[in-house]
Amino acid sequence: MDDNFDPYGNAIVIGASGGIGAALMRKLESDGKFRKVIGLSRTSDPALDLTDEDSIRSAASYVGDMGTPRLVIIATGVLHGQGMEPEKSHRALTAASMANSYAVNTIGPALIMKHFLPLFSKSGKSVMAALSAKVGSIGDNHLGGWYSYRASKAALNQIVHTAAIELRRSHPKAVCVALHPGTVDTGLSGKFAKSGLTVQPVDSAAEALIGCVDRLKPENNGAFLDRTGEPLPW
Ligand SMILES: NC(=O)c1ccc[n+]([C@@H]2O[C@H](COP(=O)([O-])OP(=O)(O)OC[C@H]3O[C@@H](n4cnc5c(N)ncnc54)[C@H](OP(=O)(O)O)[C@@H]3O)[C@@H](O)[C@H]2O)c1
Repeated sequence: MDDNFDPYGNAIVIGASGGIGAALMRKLESDGKFRKVIGLSRTSDPALDLTDEDSIRSAASYVGDMGTPRLVIIATGVLHGQGMEPEKSHRALTAASMANSYAVNTIGPALIMKHFLPLFSKSGKSVMAALSAKVGSIGDNHLGGWYSYRASKAALNQIVHTAAIELRRSHPKAVCVALHPGTVDTGLSGKFAKSGLTVQPVDSAAEALIGCVDRLKPENNGAFLDRTGEPLPW
């Protein structure tokens, strides 16, 4: 029983406007395992912008007023856009692209943990799951390239692991993990998915991710896992 979520708890999806985030909302709403499913994004009410800590603080306060969150999934991220492209060479590095990757992929999720982890109950199962990426694995990096995205996700993994250690001291049943969703058909990955790679539809990815989250146990706290629950190298 302790490995299951309290059905009176709420589930929160941060990045509900994204490809995977919207699919996670649909899956959680159709499963009906949580009392409320709350989606947050830059266009929700309240709005949450990862680059604006005040908006994160206000969104956390709103979520706290709605009941106890048992599941928080951070489904935000950036790989390209606004003049930013994944770098094929160190020659393409720019401070602005690196700073933007860190702001959205690392610092924003860290601030989500700062403001949302204190809302967790000290007893029973609670999960903070940040969507990371296998390309953030240093051990698995055989191809190079994508400097900013890789580095920002590696740093995110370190933040997740560090927060997990702190969380365990006060919340023995809580789990904080980094999850790799696989390659998924969204605006983030679309034009970079190489032929030969298995690209999943968003709804299959959401189903696999929620299945993984459902199976998480306290011993998984601090791990970097793929969508099936298998550990990935740091
Ligand atoms: N798709 C894949 O193949 C794949 C593979 C590995 C890992 N991932 C990871 O999975 C996660 C979700 O990716 P996705 O494929 O669903 O991408 P997506 O469709 O591009 O969604 C990205 C989400 O991030 C949000 N976001 C970006 N900047 C933000 C900011 N400053 N403040 C708040 N929200 C912000 C977007 O909000 P707006 O709608 O407001 O722009 C959107 O909700 C990311 O962490 C990504 O790195 C994806």
